[in-house]
Amino acid sequence: MRMSGQLTPLSRSYIETADVVVGVVPNNLARKWLQDIAKKYICLLSYYDDCDVDGKDRRDTYQRMSATILDEVRSGKTVCAAFYGHPGIFACVSHMAIKDARAEGYSAEMLPGISAEDCLVADLGIDPGATGMQSMEATQFMIFERKIDPTALTVLWQPALAGETTFKRFDTTADRLQVLVDKLARDFPLDHPVILYEAATSALETTRMDTIPLRDLPGAAMSGSTTLVIPAAFPLKPDQAIIDQLNALPAAADAQLQPA
Ligand SMILES: C[S@@+](CC[C@H](N)C(=O)[O-])C[C@H]1O[C@@H](n2cnc3c(N)ncnc32)[C@H](O)[C@@H]1O
Repeated sequence: MRMSGQLTPLSRSYIETADVVVGVVPNNLARKWLQDIAKKYICLLSYYDDCDVDGKDRRDTYQRMSATILDEVRSGKTVCAAFYGHPGIFACVSHMAIKDARAEGYSAEMLPGISAEDCLVADLGIDPGATGMQSMEATQFMIFERKIDPTALTVLWQPALAGETTFKRFDTTADRLQVLVDKLARDFPLDHPVILYEAATSALETTRMDTIPLRDLPGAAMSGSTTLVIPAAFPLKPDQAIIDQLNALPAAADAQLQPA
């Protein structure tokens, strides 16, 4: 997320030593830095222009990105593909390229990175272990039957694309966000505070942590860097039947002492 400081030493060494670095890094400063330290840098950002072509959408972009990575591998080079955050979290290209490379007999591995979710845990001071956490893409939550547990923390990724089902646009509309609010209102009160979170990606930026009532989401400003964080709305409810079942069991030490 933050090139200065949050890039792991191992990732940095792969970037520096690979014959070619293929990058999908939108942040200008981060991209410039990569271009400076890589032996050769191929920027794939322009592939998003596929979405302007009739009959093509983001899925074509992702296929083409993966294919470019594989072309470099097939030409005998050591290739490092660089993505921001964790390269395997909400980033299908990395998974596709690794799967295809391995299928063709090449050795390929993914190195973990610090994702937006890691940053939000730190910035918002929320421990996912306290209530449990459900984390999913906003549109996936909308268009599939998902069971949300309002006693757990909910993280919705890509809310700025919520309900955008054409795979061609990079924004959404207030009426689509209203559909998201209506679905969330099945489990959360409309006045429940939700957080629009944007981690700072450089020392020059400040982290956005705007708390608004759920009902105000359709009018909220969002960008490609916004993640929607919904704290638990209700306390955990004991499952008394299971507690009784556990209490009825002999203590573990006693059970071991019993003859077979
Ligand atoms: C395609 S996903 C990439 C996620 C990335 N691989 C990661 O590990 O964080 C894009 C989504 O990540 C989240 N995201 C990206 N940048 C962010 C930032 N600076 N702060 C908070 N969330 C961010 C947003 O939900 C955004 O819609």
